[in-house]
Amino acid sequence: MVEQKKIIIDTDPGHDDAIAILLALASPELDVIGVTCVAGNVPLHLTARNALLVCELAGRPDVKVFSGCDRPMVRKLVTAEAIHGETGLDGPQWDPPTGQLQDQHAVDWLVETLLDAEDKEITLCPVGPLTNIAMALVREPKIASKVDQIVSMGGGYFVGGNITPAAEFNIFVDPHAADVVYRSGIPIVAMPLDVTHKALMTQDWIQTLEDLGTEVGRKSSQLLSFYNRFDLERYGMAGSPVHDPATIAYLIEPDLYTGKEVYVEVETRSSLTMGMTVVDYWGARRKEPNCLWVSKVNDEGFFQLMYDRLATL
Ligand code: RIB
Ligand code: CA
Repeated sequence: MVEQKKIIIDTDPGHDDAIAILLALASPELDVIGVTCVAGNVPLHLTARNALLVCELAGRPDVKVFSGCDRPMVRKLVTAEAIHGETGLDGPQWDPPTGQLQDQHAVDWLVETLLDAEDKEITLCPVGPLTNIAMALVREPKIASKVDQIVSMGGGYFVGGNITPAAEFNIFVDPHAADVVYRSGIPIVAMPLDVTHKALMTQDWIQTLEDLGTEVGRKSSQLLSFYNRFDLERYGMAGSPVHDPATIAYLIEPDLYTGKEVYVEVETRSSLTMGMTVVDYWGARRKEPNCLWVSKVNDEGFFQLMYDRLATL
């Protein structure tokens, strides 16, 4: 048995977040020691509820779910109901969650858990705005040495942004938090739009999930059919990018991805380019790289991995 990697998923479910959580819980390589929720796609009370629903859908009501920051560090919260619907998981019919959130605040639990860990023992997988991660680092900088790496969905450079021409949603919502994380010195693997836009989910693939004949297959198919409509209308793409599971797929099968070690800085002042991830791809600034910027994916392998793992739930 391969040694399990301890991970914490920080999330704003969110349709693609839901698939990322299901993929992680379906993968024996990963030990999901907790799910921390942040305001993003929808307000915090809904992202936290949605995380409970997804863990229960995976048959894992035992997974500890924590509610975290309900707004960005500095800016006003911007949400994305146009994409994810009013509940954040529109598409399927959901019964209320049977489980409860943990009482402890996500930031307090992150700090406590990381301080108790060995050096480089835990991997953080943020797939929403980085508010919780940044607040934990500000609260207790000592936690940085306990993090093996941060595998984060966020940013965009060669393909630009998705919520503004310059910025991707997760970074745009809380650029100050992203700035704290990118300056933290913790090894970062960035899964930006540059790579997520190269793995487009088609209605045919969604149908294969429906054909599984399982509750997970049915709900995933209903979620993704709802989510697919936005990107098809907007981008006119052959399918839509299902962003967040890229972080989990990378942890399971890193060879699916190719990236380059670069220096990235986050714009936190300009109104025009607020939240832009400025990638020094050619080393012009001669700065020490602070992240692996992933821009290539074996998309067939990615979708096969997701299908194979979701089929086990
Ligand atoms: O820009 C895509 C990201 O923003 C994804 O994490 C999606 O869930 C939203 O949070
Ligand atoms: Ca997300």
